[in-house]
Amino acid sequence: MKMTPTISSRIAMLATSLAVTATLSTSAMAADAAVLNPPPTPDSEYDAYLRSIMPNQAHTMADVAYHFTNLWFAGKARNWPLAQFYFNEARNHILWTIRLSPVRKISTGDLRLEDMFKAVDIPLTTLKERIAAGDAAGFKKAYSDAVNGCNACHTAVEKPFFRIRIPTQPEVQVMDFRPAKTK
Ligand code: HEC
Repeated sequence: MKMTPTISSRIAMLATSLAVTATLSTSAMAADAAVLNPPPTPDSEYDAYLRSIMPNQAHTMADVAYHFTNLWFAGKARNWPLAQFYFNEARNHILWTIRLSPVRKISTGDLRLEDMFKAVDIPLTTLKERIAAGDAAGFKKAYSDAVNGCNACHTAVEKPFFRIRIPTQPEVQVMDFRPAKTK
């Protein structure tokens, strides 16, 4: 015959499992603290700490490339809500890139990226308007003008070898670019 555990043995089992959980979470917390290193108090040391965990501009630009590439395919498929999303992400990540390092040292002195952005934001604004209007032909033209804007900034920062072009395939396989069916 099977023995049902008595109340006291159940309590003992529960107590053991709680103790195990407590031990696990204590050691997990210790591990987190070791990995995370609590940030120092705000001062130049803190700035250095923040710099050490910040992505670099190539990183945020790779995000721009990702969103901007997918934007082309969303627009081609006339999926305007998706195009709007990718447009916003691309533009926001250009702004993030600028905030990370607003002034770049180039051979002739300092270059304020914000000044470059103001010029690039003109074709970007047109692109945004064409997306909002659901204008496929206008979208293609505006996208191509924005590509020239990308390259203008890359040339200005003396990285003319970052030559942006109209993409030939999306950056993501799992995304269905076709517009969602409206019932
Ligand atoms: C305001 C200036 C500016 C604009 C506008 C700009 N970029 Fe960049 N981009 C940079 C800078 C600065 C770098 C180089 C970062 C470095 O030196 O590490 C860069 C690098 C890149 C790279 C190379 C990153 C890598 O790791 O492969 C890609 C791709 C890129 N940009 C895409 C784009 C696209 C697409 C656009 C337009 C939608 C664009 N960029 C617009 C400033 C800009």
